[in-house]
Amino acid sequence: MKRVITYGTFDLLHYGHINLLKRAKALGDYLVVVISSDEFNWIEKQKKCYFTYEQRKALVEAVRYVDLVIPETSWEQKITDVHEYHIDTFVMGDDWNGKFDFLKEEGVEVVYLPRTPEISTTQIKRDLNK
Ligand code: CTP
Repeated sequence: MKRVITYGTFDLLHYGHINLLKRAKALGDYLVVVISSDEFNWIEKQKKCYFTYEQRKALVEAVRYVDLVIPETSWEQKITDVHEYHIDTFVMGDDWNGKFDFLKEEGVEVVYLPRTPEISTTQIKRDLNK
C-alpha cells in the first residue's frame, strides 16, 4: 500500500483544496492530511482561521479522498511524521516548490502539484469583504 501525506491550513474549504486532495490521493492508496492547529497558525504564521481546528478537521475528514487527519503543531514534525506513518510520498502545492526537498533524505518521494488558479482562502476572505 502506497501512503501519501500532505499539509495545510484548509480554512474555508474550497475547490482548490479538493482538487489538491484528489490529486494527492491519486498518487497512492492512503492519504494522511496534516492540518495546522489553531496555536501553530497563530504563533508560527500569524494567521487566524475562520474555522477552528476541530471544524476544519471535520470538513477535511468528510472528503472521500482523505483517510486520516492529524494536527500540525510544529515545523519539525514532518520528519517524524513520514516515519511514524510509513509515508512513501509527500505532496504540497507548488507555492512550496523546493521547500521540502530535504525529506528526500528520509527516503520519501517529494511532489509539488500545480495550484488550482484563481482561488485561495485569502481571496475568498478579500472578496467577501468587498
Ligand atoms: N492549494 C491548491 N490550489 C489552491 C489553493 C490551495 O492546490 N488554489 C493547495 C496548497 O498549495 C496547499 C493546500 O492546498 O498544498 C492547502 O492550502 P492552504 O494554504 O490551506 O490554502 P490556501 O487557499 O492557499 O490558503 P491561504 O490563502 O490562507 O494561503
